[in-house]
Amino acid sequence: MTATEIDTWPADLLAQEFRDKRVLVTGSSRGIGAAVAAAFAQLGARVAIHGRDLAAVDAVAAGMGDGVIGLAGDFADKGQTRAVVEQAIDRLGGLDVLVNNAGTMLGRVALADIDDGFLQEQFDLNAASAVVASRSALPALIASRGAIVNTGSISGRTGGSAGSSLYSAAKAFQASLARSLATELAPHGIRVNAVSPGTIDTDFHQRYSTADKLAQTAARIPLKRLGRAEDCVGAYLFLASNRLAGYITGQTIEVNGGQYYN
Ligand SMILES: NC(=O)c1ccc[n+]([C@@H]2O[C@H](COP(=O)([O-])OP(=O)(O)OC[C@H]3O[C@@H](n4cnc5c(N)ncnc54)[C@H](OP(=O)(O)O)[C@@H]3O)[C@@H](O)[C@H]2O)c1
Repeated sequence: MTATEIDTWPADLLAQEFRDKRVLVTGSSRGIGAAVAAAFAQLGARVAIHGRDLAAVDAVAAGMGDGVIGLAGDFADKGQTRAVVEQAIDRLGGLDVLVNNAGTMLGRVALADIDDGFLQEQFDLNAASAVVASRSALPALIASRGAIVNTGSISGRTGGSAGSSLYSAAKAFQASLARSLATELAPHGIRVNAVSPGTIDTDFHQRYSTADKLAQTAARIPLKRLGRAEDCVGAYLFLASNRLAGYITGQTIEVNGGQYYN
């Protein structure tokens, strides 16, 4: 490499990358999604945040500054998922980045107790919603040669802990979907990747884990603490940035403090 071929790296690289970019982060009313959406907004992007309750989402959006809009819809419902993405594209005037993050465990249920309704809801929310959102965003992402980042989970790789089989399988789907769509959408210049969080201390675990279980997990993590929502942000920004990750597609970044088990 000669001196003239060496890339220049502006000090405000991330602001240059994301200023005025149109970004939808699904499931960003709180937790990991809220931290990711706030970072994009601070870097000058025009961000749509999303949750199920419009008043709550609007309050979060207002706290993130000008240019942040709130959208509501239940992502276990395909029609509502489609409507949220279409509204985001309409109100932002297009789309550069789609972060498929909405999801939750819905409950810990052993195989013998899984009924058809629970099976369907798990699949619709934690697997299918990313397909529906990506399909709805496709024309806009083709126009912008944009990027998709899915949220997987460490449990997609390990199988998760007791009662989380469907949730964990659905999260494995997110990493697999990213790999498949990366190949399919590469001709359009669209990159598709995933972030796989470990045990991140959000409302999620207030609902689905006990304090004892979390303490035991933290003790086993090489970095000796649970993750914070903010710990996940860098991986999403990196994968969304064409400058930083323009040759990276179909990959999953693990953000887990070195944790490789539950
Ligand atoms: N925390 C962890 O340890 C961890 C680890 C690996 C992966 N993840 C994944 O990371 C993502 C964010 O989790 P988090 O920890 O930040 O959880 P969280 O604080 O509970 O936030 C979940 C987000 O998803 C939205 N959501 C949940 N159910 C929804 C539905 N039916 N329709 C539309 N939106 C829905 C929530 O909106 P509302 O405010 O309307 O509920 C909220 O914005 C999820 O996909 C989760 O599976 C989390």
